[in-house]
Amino acid sequence: MNIIRTLFSKPDIDNRIRALGQELTEFYQGKPLTAVVLLNGAMFFAADLLRHVKTELFVDSVCAGSYVGNQSSGQVNFRSGLKLPVTSRHVLLVDDILDTGVTLAAVKAEMEKQGALSVRTCVMLDKKRQRSAAGLASADWCAFEVPDVYIVGYGLDADELYRNDPEIKYMENPGREL
Ligand code: IMP
Ligand code: MG
Repeated sequence: MNIIRTLFSKPDIDNRIRALGQELTEFYQGKPLTAVVLLNGAMFFAADLLRHVKTELFVDSVCAGSYVGNQSSGQVNFRSGLKLPVTSRHVLLVDDILDTGVTLAAVKAEMEKQGALSVRTCVMLDKKRQRSAAGLASADWCAFEVPDVYIVGYGLDADELYRNDPEIKYMENPGREL
């Protein structure tokens, strides 16, 4: 059986998100901003964070991924795209976790291709690990740094389970019986 331990509690998350929201509010003041949420993993983080961003804001989403089960396949595919045009808009990509960075690099390139004024990234978690040249090296904003372990909860899944857990946790035996 997997043992799941808490890394960040609900109060830890709430406090950090409030501070991050204030930083983003100051940074994007007066700029035409579109937040693009990467589904499904970032939906909980983005819902909480963006309510602390006090600017005139469009919110859209894309669904892109490289993971199959607990392993990154290295190939990014888009299962759904933007509804809003990003031309002449600053884009803030909101994602759950920067792991290999391959997904965010691919989505960022796509937003630039679609004519965004700027594309910046905000992730809930930055997994401290070696990243390949194909991956985004770092995010512009990050709520928490985490070690290179398998994380679940607060949007993050293991085979689609645990997304609704209100805390950020790690699994001691990922890939084994869930
Ligand atoms: P990347 O392209 O390797 O940076 O990661 C892409 C996606 O993989 C993330 O947005 C997550 O949805 C998923 N992922 C990466 N690491 C973890 C983890 O530790 N737990 C759950 N999902 C993860
Ligand atoms: Mg996932």
